[in-house]
Amino acid sequence: MNAAVSRRSVLIGMGAVGAFLAADLGAVAYANKWIGSGAPRKTFLDGFLTVYGPQLGFRKNHAKGVVVTGYFESNGNGQELSRAAVFRPGKFPVVGRFSLSGGDAHVADAPGAARGLGLAFGFPESWQWRTAMLNLPVFPDATPRGFYDRLLASKVVPGTGAPDPAAMKAFLAAHPETAAAMAIIKKQPPAIGFGDSTFRGLNVFYFVNESGVRTPVRWSFVPQQTTAPKPRGGDPNGLFDAVVRQLRGGPLRWHMVVTVGNPGDPVTDATQPWPDDRRTIDVGLLTLTSAETEARGNARDINFDPLTLPDGIEPSDDPLLSARSDVYAASYRQRTGEPKSPSAVQVQEVSA
Ligand code: HEM
Repeated sequence: MNAAVSRRSVLIGMGAVGAFLAADLGAVAYANKWIGSGAPRKTFLDGFLTVYGPQLGFRKNHAKGVVVTGYFESNGNGQELSRAAVFRPGKFPVVGRFSLSGGDAHVADAPGAARGLGLAFGFPESWQWRTAMLNLPVFPDATPRGFYDRLLASKVVPGTGAPDPAAMKAFLAAHPETAAAMAIIKKQPPAIGFGDSTFRGLNVFYFVNESGVRTPVRWSFVPQQTTAPKPRGGDPNGLFDAVVRQLRGGPLRWHMVVTVGNPGDPVTDATQPWPDDRRTIDVGLLTLTSAETEARGNARDINFDPLTLPDGIEPSDDPLLSARSDVYAASYRQRTGEPKSPSAVQVQEVSA
């Protein structure tokens, strides 16, 4: 992260806000006993609403985005570890979405805001695999509760343009795992744009092969292109507009790299990286060919639920995964029942 991108800007970028309401919402959360209950969805939606307002028709997190399409060419190397159809040699259609973290659908792009890439493979074939990844080396939170508390602690205090420093300090004191993760994140400056970013799944999954052998893995999409156009100064959609222009110039490609965990590596904590020397396998090439404005029937209406998995990929017990699946579904249900306003990024209006 460059010097201009402080820990605070990363935390704001990762999503959220409202320290002064934290106590009240926290009390509701405890009263609902959602911790460990497996049903935190309403609490989270209330939290996003408190921090960002209604954002009708938009995702309640990663609200700002643009749709992309392309294909994945599997080279067959993944079959050693997984019997999933997506790893058989072949070419599969992909629908995706670049996004910025946070629930403000019209926020100005900032380099420190975490960038997302959601991918739906096999769509609309009989099997499906969906993943939603970030351009970060680790996730800031180990638990759903940590995510929720950080959401509230990073609420921008009206009139200041920044979160309450005392609330963030108290949050980090109570969550040393987030402080440690943020230190790792700060050491890896973001790439120039979406096109040259590495996107990582961060949660651990298990690949299961034809013999039933289960292997803990993490996956990343590593860009083949080594650079991207710089966002134009003063353009509030600078990051998105830049990748739209880059795609007009030709396809963008990412290698899917699977990292294999060793016995003893953490499998339920997305704040903890694995050692750098772990085995990696390049299992195929993602090619994105075009960008589209979010609209009826495209990725606007897809829920990139990380638990939509084909046979051959299984979730770990990371508590973030079940919470994500639950909250994404609730966000999806809510947003698809709301009137839709136009998205901030209108692809056809991006100048040459
Ligand atoms: C408890 C933890 C988390 C919560 C509560 C949460 C919440 C959400 C919500 C509500 C959405 C919008 C879903 C929709 O309306 O379709 C979303 C989208 C997204 N999340 Fe998370 N998230 C969490 C953790 C993560 C992690 C660990 C990652 C990355 C590894 C991640 C990456 C993304 C991405 C890329 C999107 C946008 C996907 C799209 O374009 O639809 N999130 N998240």
